Amino acid sequence: MVPERLPTVLLMRIGILGNGEMADALGTGWARAGHEVVAGSRSGDVGLREAARSGTDAVLLALPYEAAVGVVTELEDVLRGRVLIDCTNPVGGPDFTLRTAGGPSAAERIAAAPTAHVVKAFNLCHVDVWRLTPPVFDGRPLAVPLCGDDYFALCVVRRLARDLGCEPLNAGGLDRAGLVEATAALLIGLWVGEGADAQAIAPPMAFAGPRG
Ligand SMILES: NC(=O)c1ccc[n+]([C@@H]2O[C@H](COP(=O)([O-])OP(=O)(O)OC[C@H]3O[C@@H](n4cnc5c(N)ncnc54)[C@H](OP(=O)(O)O)[C@@H]3O)[C@@H](O)[C@H]2O)c1
Repeated sequence: MVPERLPTVLLMRIGILGNGEMADALGTGWARAGHEVVAGSRSGDVGLREAARSGTDAVLLALPYEAAVGVVTELEDVLRGRVLIDCTNPVGGPDFTLRTAGGPSAAERIAAAPTAHVVKAFNLCHVDVWRLTPPVFDGRPLAVPLCGDDYFALCVVRRLARDLGCEPLNAGGLDRAGLVEATAALLIGLWVGEGADAQAIAPPMAFAGPRG
């Protein structure tokens, strides 16, 4: 059964909060797929409120974690009921630690602020990966884990992941977003901190153990 709220047209209107690296990489990919993309910032010609208003099908939150909750709280009236994609990484410091350690994930804090349908996605890879057309490695499209509670919002973000040439991966509800954020902290620490081949930590699927 197709839910009533699924977009009836294939092309979406996407607003982006922020006009930095991630906004440019993901926004360019989605524009290339034919979507209408409006990015805004606190200081540019297009403001954050206008960008949020433009995102009638989805809004990407591409701000530093430290600014994210405050901005979405301020824009709560515009973001109500919208699909809000959270790509933030609450990771920092010389040891790449989680800013949220011991508490709710960034995605849950963001979801607590507005009444939007938050989906955690696109946070695991460096911006250069999102600029690839497409991000396919050894013939395998990059898998993008998605965490969210709203079926419709997940359908929209799955579609947007595919439009970048990626394979969306169901990673559970928003209560599991903290695991994806912690995975980002681990990977960034290994890649950047240690110069290690972090991809090598996972064995091939045949050795993944019994499936539940
Ligand atoms: N870069 C990556 O490789 C990467 C990968 C995955 C996830 N992420 C996550 O994606 C998010 C965006 O990263 P980015 O690399 O795109 O950052 P960026 O290039 O530094 O851009 C950040 C954007 O946020 C705005 N901003 C900064 N502080 C703000 C505040 N207090 N209030 C309102 N707007 C503010 C900036 O606007 P101004 O120009 O006005 O300062 C800019 O538009 C971060 O949460 C990051 O953890 C990044």
